Amino acid sequence: MKILAIETSCDETAVAILEAEGGFENPNFKILGQALYSQASKHAQYGGVYPNLAKREHAENLLPMLTEALRESGDLSEGNLGNLEIDKKQKKFVEEALSRHPETAESLMSFVEKHLVPDVDYIAVTKGPGLEPALWVGISFAKALGELWKKDVVGVNHMEGHIYSVLVDTEEESKLKFPALSLLISGGHTELVLVKDWRDFEILGRTRDDAVGEAFDKTARLMGLSYPGGPEVSKLAESARSRDGSPVLFPRPMIDSGDLDFSFSGLKTAVRQYIENNSPLDENHKEEIALGIEKAIADVLVSKTKSALKEGGAQTLIVAGGVIANSFLRENFKDLAHELKINIAIPTRSLSTDNAVMIAIASYFKYLDSGGDADIIAEGNLKLS
Ligand code: KG4
Ligand code: ZN
Repeated sequence: MKILAIETSCDETAVAILEAEGGFENPNFKILGQALYSQASKHAQYGGVYPNLAKREHAENLLPMLTEALRESGDLSEGNLGNLEIDKKQKKFVEEALSRHPETAESLMSFVEKHLVPDVDYIAVTKGPGLEPALWVGISFAKALGELWKKDVVGVNHMEGHIYSVLVDTEEESKLKFPALSLLISGGHTELVLVKDWRDFEILGRTRDDAVGEAFDKTARLMGLSYPGGPEVSKLAESARSRDGSPVLFPRPMIDSGDLDFSFSGLKTAVRQYIENNSPLDENHKEEIALGIEKAIADVLVSKTKSALKEGGAQTLIVAGGVIANSFLRENFKDLAHELKINIAIPTRSLSTDNAVMIAIASYFKYLDSGGDADIIAEGNLKLS
């Protein structure tokens, strides 16, 4: 089966085309084409993602990303080869779906008229969780494309996408054995999820306040680093590590709480106080703060995950979401899996942060289950269920 997937839940505009086969028994995925535009530098001046800007950027960049992904997969017929005449009903549908983005509607119709319908089976799109204005652009675009190409559209949970991002090019064991335990660590989520079967999830623990990615981003901001802060903190911590710098000691919130919930807002407060009491900071001192932040976060994440693994009898550990792009965390989780003699699946670094490949993968299991969706709406707070 060939899948075209679209992701616009936050500040990445991404399109991917995948070949999927093997069903639930032996799922196998091959990336045929992918294109991703990160808006991060545009949001940096606001210190975080600015929803209206994200929406505009998605509307502007979706068609270029679609074109690039189709070209890479060999599905773009160049020149005036179109085999499709858009009828009035379709035109009306597209104009209504993309009523807030008339230029996108126009250019999409013109594109569709000029190119052959690609050989894809259906279109997948993220429906939540995420920023609703951003989600809506992707959903409207996917619906318009579905109407023009006469393809089913499948709405996908972004967090399911992160979980299944490990099914392409994993560093370790790529076959998942159920039950699996998934630690999801991103800009909006920190969750321990028991994955009982492909589409059967149980949330075992979650953050009570800030997500881990948010903790990185907010503490980075306190240190005057730019958005997104995770990679910046991680770079400074790496420098400190390479010269054997000693980490500033920060609290490990809820590490001994006896449950599987997390809390990271106290860490932010501790970092703020530390900076206030010790400013001005020289470069070395900043690096040691970053090292302390990374270490505190790693200790809490590893400790809670270890408890969940000991309690739950999971056969595979999946760690996914943007924060697992962090090298130190990757090493920590590999060590944990080694210690507990358990399989571990971590996405490649580029599939850790938001992308459309993972949306295509998660859609495959949903499509096998229930086919296309009659209607899709953006659900900013969509939960795993
Ligand atoms: O999954 P993701 O791309 O987007 C959401 O769904 O939220 O995760 C983005 C988060 C941001 O908070 C970013 O700072 C963090 O992942 N991140 C990192 C690293 N790379 C990205 N955090 C720590 N270390 C990194 N290397
Ligand atoms: Zn994400």
